[in-house]
Amino acid sequence: MTSRGLIQKLEKERDLTNAGLVQLIQGLTPDDEKELFARARAVREAEYGKAVYVRGLIEFTNICQNDCYYCGIRKSNTKAERYRLTPDEILCCVREGYRLGFRTFVLQGGEDPWYTKERLAAVIHSIKKEFPSCAVTLSVGERTREEYMCWREAGADRYLLRHETADESHYRRLHPEDMSLRSRMECLYTLRDLGYQTGAGFMVGSPGQTVDNLVSDLRFLQQLRPHMIGIGPYLSHPDTPFAGEPDGSCRLTLILLAVLRLMFPGVLLPATTALGTIAPDGRERGLLAGANVLMPNLSPESVRTKYELYHDKIHTGAESAMHLDELRRRVESVGYCIVTDRGDSRIG
Ligand code: 5AD
Repeated sequence: MTSRGLIQKLEKERDLTNAGLVQLIQGLTPDDEKELFARARAVREAEYGKAVYVRGLIEFTNICQNDCYYCGIRKSNTKAERYRLTPDEILCCVREGYRLGFRTFVLQGGEDPWYTKERLAAVIHSIKKEFPSCAVTLSVGERTREEYMCWREAGADRYLLRHETADESHYRRLHPEDMSLRSRMECLYTLRDLGYQTGAGFMVGSPGQTVDNLVSDLRFLQQLRPHMIGIGPYLSHPDTPFAGEPDGSCRLTLILLAVLRLMFPGVLLPATTALGTIAPDGRERGLLAGANVLMPNLSPESVRTKYELYHDKIHTGAESAMHLDELRRRVESVGYCIVTDRGDSRIG
């Protein structure tokens, strides 16, 4: 089948054979690519109009007990300057964000044992008490069902946990022995089960990734049916075992965003910081390929550079929540419009 035929079929049936997906992912001419992005935009606009949802991202701790080979805040990176915001400091970020117009707060951090079930529950509780109209999203890695349940009861609405790769042997290449794809997937099903709006996702172009691995990612997402899907290019960090590995590509990330939009029309799909780091106009191009969410940084200026998952992460300018006007201008320059309601997923 021609690539045009595949794009039409994917839009209509929301699915293709593995061979069809491979052809779309790696066989597009520049003209096909334009067509793919145009169809992804049409589907996105049918679901969400021109709205772009914004989430205030609070990177509240870069202390992590995991040692993922790709990640700059892995525990073996002794060069990382560690920090942890106190519950009060987190609450201050939320207040500032609320003032700026944010109605969703994403509490993201490494797997930091100081933030026990009780301590994090208390933070969630105080945010929801002061700002009952806001959504709280957690992104703190693999924890027990009991912890997830407690935080849900404390008022957490959503949870982001990228699966990173759905292929067992690729997972092994990216993670040390003490982590497993199985437990990652179990966490995701538990989160869904507990009523969280759940986000999964993967890096594009991580070391050793093949196009078949990407097809496995798409198949896993079809099984999980998450409300949100976060993807971004892999970006190498000099103080990790993957130092010197090539970065992922902007173009391939954009193609996958568009494919995801056609496969999962109602999904919340962020144009991520990593996409804005690999190309200065990466996030705008993400919006033009079907993304509909942005996550500006609300962390205090003083810690912002320390949450360095990858090299040269952008940390001033439009990605920062303080420059919401600049961000609004950039979003409008590509024909979309930032809205500040909670922006819940269309997926039930
Ligand atoms: N490049 C790009 N993304 C990365 N992440 C971690 N390290 C890197 C890197 N070097 C992503 C992972 C994680 C998310 C918080 O950041 O997918 O889930």
